[in-house]
Amino acid sequence: MVRQEDIEYMRRAIELAERGVGFTNPNPVVGAVIVKSGKVIGEGWHERYGEWHAERNAFKSCMRNTRGATMYVTLEPCCHHGKTPPCTEAIIEHEIARVVIGMEDPNPLVGGKGIASLRAAGIEVECGVEEEALREQNRVFLKYITTKRPWVAMKTAMTLDGKIATRTGDSKWITGTEARAYVHELRHRFMAVLVGIGTAVADNPLLNCRIEGRGVRQPIRVVVDSNARLALKSQLVRTAREYRTIVACTRFADEGKVKALQDVGVEVWVCEEREGLVSVDDLLARLGQAGIDSVLLEGGGSLNYSFLAGGFVDEVYAFIAPTIVGGMNAKTPVEGMGVEKMADAIDLELVNVLNMGEDVLLKLKTKR
Ligand SMILES: NC(=O)c1ccc[n+]([C@@H]2O[C@H](COP(=O)([O-])OP(=O)(O)OC[C@H]3O[C@@H](n4cnc5c(N)ncnc54)[C@H](OP(=O)(O)O)[C@@H]3O)[C@@H](O)[C@H]2O)c1
Repeated sequence: MVRQEDIEYMRRAIELAERGVGFTNPNPVVGAVIVKSGKVIGEGWHERYGEWHAERNAFKSCMRNTRGATMYVTLEPCCHHGKTPPCTEAIIEHEIARVVIGMEDPNPLVGGKGIASLRAAGIEVECGVEEEALREQNRVFLKYITTKRPWVAMKTAMTLDGKIATRTGDSKWITGTEARAYVHELRHRFMAVLVGIGTAVADNPLLNCRIEGRGVRQPIRVVVDSNARLALKSQLVRTAREYRTIVACTRFADEGKVKALQDVGVEVWVCEEREGLVSVDDLLARLGQAGIDSVLLEGGGSLNYSFLAGGFVDEVYAFIAPTIVGGMNAKTPVEGMGVEKMADAIDLELVNVLNMGEDVLLKLKTKR
């Protein structure tokens, strides 16, 4: 039976898990708390991909004997040998009496087996505490482990009149420093950042993650560029040996251009083609196969439309700046053909509204 204190300790485990965000992909974030006689005697979280799991880190932090204690862990403990030995073994060895689990492992190959092995060892197990919050926290992992395709978050910054650049293409800067700093948080959180060649040409971006004062994970940079026309002198190409960079093109790309990009350290992926452009469906399948669990789509409008129209976007971060630029030819967050009727519109659900300095951030999810 779930007790009141179970919810409190699970919330603490969720907080700990959050510290792993951006560092554990394509693994989930996981937190663990060990409680004995009403006192927390150990805490841990999964800190980095390939390193110890939350349960073992919590045991390492324990100053007291764990016999008879309760362990709170946000995700079902693993029971197989992966990069580290099974956590269920450690729980049994440490003579834990009760394990409270946030949610079952969604991996169809693992789900339920960790719980079964703990019960078989005589340990009391409770599963399904704060599950809704946990599904949200590990939404990237949940999608990736069940579909092998990356979670796609679309980010856009627009003026109050819905423009992402002026009529001349100038777009620096629409939002203020706080909103722009938040974008770097997003780049840390998602494994890859993806832009269309139109944006790469117009903005000559670096697309790396710049956060001062703490460790970050640099995203893999992907340019969707059917004809491999990304300039050799662009910032992206010039830094390709420093930050992994992929150009997704089609078989129609010029061989010489492909070779020139490869020679300076750019990975070139020849994707399937759809109406002369890179097939987003195929690109996402390839990114998933390459172990990339999440993508931050940073525009521009044409590529955004292809992603939205294909039903490939999972969530949207829309920054709105209190400024107006006007202009019939100024670009908007979503271009492309557009839909014909309101009944065909791509509907979203508002999750949250945040103030970001002088700007506003809308967090939304696409409706499926
Ligand atoms: N404020 C913001 O948040 C923000 C963010 C990003 C960009 N921007 C602005 O947006 C503008 C660029 O937007 P854009 O719409 O011109 O360019 P874009 O969406 O960045 O790139 C479009 C180009 O990508 C290539 N592409 C390949 N496969 C595609 C596919 N499946 N679907 C769509 N495109 C595909 C096509 O060129 P090929 O045929 O050569 O392959 C296409 O013309 C710039 O002015 C930039 O400053 C603003």
